[in-house]
Amino acid sequence: MSSPALAAEDLSVALGGVGILRGVSLEVAPGEVVGVLGPSGAGKSTLFRALSGELRVDRGSVRLGGVDVTREPLWKRARLGLGYVPQTPSVLFDLDVEANLEAFGRITRSAKPAQTRAAEVDLEGRLEIRARDLSGGERRRLELARALTAEPRVLLCDEPLAGVDPTGAQRIGRILRARAEAQMAVLVADHRVSEALAFCDRVLLLLDGRVEVASTPAEFLEHPAVRRRYLG
Ligand SMILES: Nc1ncnc2c1ncn2[C@@H]1O[C@H](COP(=O)(O)OP(=O)(O)O)[C@@H](O)[C@H]1O
Ligand SMILES: [Mg+2]
Repeated sequence: MSSPALAAEDLSVALGGVGILRGVSLEVAPGEVVGVLGPSGAGKSTLFRALSGELRVDRGSVRLGGVDVTREPLWKRARLGLGYVPQTPSVLFDLDVEANLEAFGRITRSAKPAQTRAAEVDLEGRLEIRARDLSGGERRRLELARALTAEPRVLLCDEPLAGVDPTGAQRIGRILRARAEAQMAVLVADHRVSEALAFCDRVLLLLDGRVEVASTPAEFLEHPAVRRRYLG
């Protein structure tokens, strides 16, 4: 494995006096798609917020391409090559797809035309549709385009499959895989197990703020701890 593009060590976060992340360590190399699976409330979004810089950690470190960014805010991590698709909506609902892409492009001074960026997320035929009228999958892909505008080297994607039908999930999987082929490091959180397993190289099971299982997709469903503690 090449040296990690993203490395977290022993991340711990308490919210309201309760330990939400309890010593999470992980690495993602360029070219890899790594899945963080786990039930609702496991701490996936808290982990992604800590990795993105949106949330301060109580303990542990985050490194981006070898640079310690633990104390750096979100915008600085973005400048160092981190892209983040939050779980919550991040499009301009009243604008159409093209205007959204143009707005994202202005913020990051992207040299790529909006049409090219639309095509990268299979939205080239949807430029004139208002963001609020998009299907769940289309809106998720527009949010993905937003994070991709700055050409990040590491992409954090929190629940890209939420509100997306099975065919749409495969499409998002293909888009993420294409990015990994281009040497991006991709970390995805989801609870749609079988659909996420289809496009991940490795998966982690997060339970109660801890990584309980690290596995290949092929072995995940048969893993004793996964069966006992997650799938039931
Ligand atoms: N600001 C907060 N204050 C207190 N508890 C929080 C806060 N944000 C999240 N939590 C709690 O942290 C736990 C993990 O939440 P989250 O990271 O969103 O999990 P997931 O994304 O895996 O569903 C949940 O029990 C949630 O209620
Ligand atoms: Mg979440």
